Amino acid sequence: MYSIQIIDDDKNVLSALGDFFKEELYEVFQYESGEMALENLNQDLPNVILLDLKLPGLDGFSILEEIKKQNPEIQVIIITGTVDINTAVKAMKLGAMDYVTKPFNLDEVSVLVEKAVQTQQSFEHLALLRKKQEHSFSDIIGSSRAMKDVFSTIQQIALSSRTSVLITGETGTGKELVARAIHHSSDRSQKPFVEVNCSAFNENLLESELFGYEPGAFTGARTRKKGLLEMAHGGTFFLDEIGEMELSLQSKILKVIEEKSLRRIGGVKEINIDTRIISATSKDLIDEVSNNNFRKDLFYRLNVARVELPPLKNRDEDILQLAIHFIKQYNLEFKKNVTGLDTEVMNVLMRHDWPGNVRELRNVIERAMLYQKGQVLGLEDISIMNAPLKRIDTNENSDEIKQGRGIVTLDILSGEFSLVESEKSIYNKALEVSGGVQSKAADLLGISRQRINYKLKTLGLLGD
Ligand SMILES: Nc1ncnc2c1ncn2[C@@H]1O[C@H](COP(=O)(O)OP(=O)(O)OP(=O)(O)O)[C@@H](O)[C@H]1O
Ligand SMILES: [Mg+2]
Repeated sequence: MYSIQIIDDDKNVLSALGDFFKEELYEVFQYESGEMALENLNQDLPNVILLDLKLPGLDGFSILEEIKKQNPEIQVIIITGTVDINTAVKAMKLGAMDYVTKPFNLDEVSVLVEKAVQTQQSFEHLALLRKKQEHSFSDIIGSSRAMKDVFSTIQQIALSSRTSVLITGETGTGKELVARAIHHSSDRSQKPFVEVNCSAFNENLLESELFGYEPGAFTGARTRKKGLLEMAHGGTFFLDEIGEMELSLQSKILKVIEEKSLRRIGGVKEINIDTRIISATSKDLIDEVSNNNFRKDLFYRLNVARVELPPLKNRDEDILQLAIHFIKQYNLEFKKNVTGLDTEVMNVLMRHDWPGNVRELRNVIERAMLYQKGQVLGLEDISIMNAPLKRIDTNENSDEIKQGRGIVTLDILSGEFSLVESEKSIYNKALEVSGGVQSKAADLLGISRQRINYKLKTLGLLGD
């Protein structure tokens, strides 16, 4: 719904214009003085303003200047009693879009307002696009092949602002993070991102959260309440843990998606809803469909675009990068100055299979950062549930191990930090310590022989 501020001290003009635009389904704000209109400008956020030039107090020109200063995208149409070309020119110079002279014809005003809305929308669109470009997905870390695919998928999805998106992946793989990134990089980013976790409520509660209600809809419904879906109008609605939703509610959500409208519980009015639906689940919805726990038609509606987040254990290139990201983050939060992590810690991190994925890794680093005292995270700082913290090589006193231990640390604080260079130095060191024997170096790093061979090749450390 577009909104319009009408500013005129003539009550007749004010109500004639007000009634007309209300009928045309605009949200109308009427003011008899410019000062009052300005006071409410940021709250009303009108797309268009109809502004009389002769006003008590501040005159139209000053009001116009102030509006343009505060929000240059709002389009202002001047209403003037005098057909004076100088006045019109002055108003245009101050940024007015057009003007009408009294007495005016409502259809004429309506055409101008429509044009103004279009102009305002395209300005807003441009501003959003610019913002979108500034906002890369900088808080999603990952350089593995799998994550690169994820990035390009979400970039495409962000461009189509209506397409429903289903995000799947194990717990802790970053589904919520991705949902937010899609919203923030789409042209809905200035509008609300509203989320609901379907597993957090029982069915009745979830329904009233989603749809809202009218007074008397059920016992306890004393006042009117807007539902979350309604609050997401213009923006993005994130249905988390969609796999937990009961079948009967699934049908109601399907209806909202198909009809782009809803009724509050106990309400009769259809309320139009323009929102992008992003849903997420760690369940296999296809399984749920074949077990009759999930509606097939809803699945197809939600699964128009798909982002599949791979488990962390399948993207070990990302493990170190994420660990460093979290160390930097907790350095700031805990006011610490940890500059790196040593080889042994890297071994452990690379070997673990991370059932809790990125969330688990973050927690491990958080705990380590809380308690550690030195500059470098060592094995003694790390505790991972069910993870083998012993080195594979049981000969603790072997010279190789001693040399390999703790020598290579990542210097994460220098601005020059390069993961590739750091990885190269780790692999080089491991090779050096193992006398150039790949299998020994692999053991030292706690990775498989195939893996070390692959890494040495991709890092360019193997001669032909
Ligand atoms: N690629 C990533 N880069 C940086 N941080 C990440 C990444 N993936 C996940 N995280 C972080 O890990 C934590 C868990 O992520 P998130 O809550 O998005 O997971 P989820 O898939 O929604 O998990 P669940 O299914 O349990 O709800 C968050 O703190 C998030 O910021
Ligand atoms: Mg989640």
